[in-house]
Amino acid sequence: MTDVKGAAVAAQEKPAERSEPSDGRRVGAVGRPPERSEPRGTGRRPRGSSRVRNAVLWDALSTVLDRIAPEGPSDVVDVGGGTGGFAVPLAELGHRVTVVDANPDALAALERRAAEAGVTVKAVQGDAVDLLDLLGPDAADLVLCHSVLEYVDDPAAAVRALTATLRPGGSASVLVAGQVAAALHRAVAGHFDDARHVLTDPDGRWGDHDRVPRRFTRATLSDLVAASGLTVGELHGVRIFADLVPDGLIDAETTGRGHGGEAGAADALMALESVAAVHPILRELATQLHLLAHK
Ligand SMILES: C[S@@+](CC[C@H](N)C(=O)[O-])C[C@H]1O[C@@H](n2cnc3c(N)ncnc32)[C@H](O)[C@@H]1O
Repeated sequence: MTDVKGAAVAAQEKPAERSEPSDGRRVGAVGRPPERSEPRGTGRRPRGSSRVRNAVLWDALSTVLDRIAPEGPSDVVDVGGGTGGFAVPLAELGHRVTVVDANPDALAALERRAAEAGVTVKAVQGDAVDLLDLLGPDAADLVLCHSVLEYVDDPAAAVRALTATLRPGGSASVLVAGQVAAALHRAVAGHFDDARHVLTDPDGRWGDHDRVPRRFTRATLSDLVAASGLTVGELHGVRIFADLVPDGLIDAETTGRGHGGEAGAADALMALESVAAVHPILRELATQLHLLAHK
């Protein structure tokens, strides 16, 4: 399938104004993400580490969805949405979700994931900077741009394009790799020269073998988003402590806060991450910086 600009539409079109998730959950719960990442029906919760790492992000998304779509589903565009780690759960909640991604293999995996979950996600192959041409203006109540600005050739152009795609009153959810955290993680691993390099390199890279082309600080991310004309909102730190402790510790279900072990370590760490996410100093140390911005 091909749209007017020649981009392949890799997945099925959205259903005709479907208003209820197929499992019968009410669309009124549009702001509450499913607490799992597995295909529908497996009955399994995500492992503790995955749950902890995503909790702050989903909380922030829930809040913004409650604000922009209090009564029902919204139009969500996930630019660089990849295999649908966010798109599919949002579709499960009843939102109309479009993923625009440059990688056709990722879109094929997205199709499979959506099919397994029993939901429809529209997939469009294309570049983030062409978002306005691909989808038109005022196409989205919410645009997700998660872990993408690190990789695009022109981050400013990508943010301008997503801004143009947003409806007035809509919001953008931008997630990027944090520069300060990269220095911390390299130093903790004993790579002190790398850590120094991260802090002095304008792109926040630790060296030539660093696979991430650029990282951001709170200031560089906020400036980038503000330059597109969006109003910069809350900044959350995502994974402040979670990446500094072993997965095995997070997955333990019987250790944690309190002497009686009444809460699992994952729950205790999630509670800690939730408080630290908005701490004015700690949030800047997070592996990922999550910025909400509004049009
Ligand atoms: C690290 S993955 C993130 C996937 C997803 N957003 C998530 O958070 O799970 C980066 C994604 O951005 C896509 N991407 C990279 N450069 C792009 C560009 N210029 N335009 C559109 N998509 C791009 C890649 O194909 C990939 O799917």
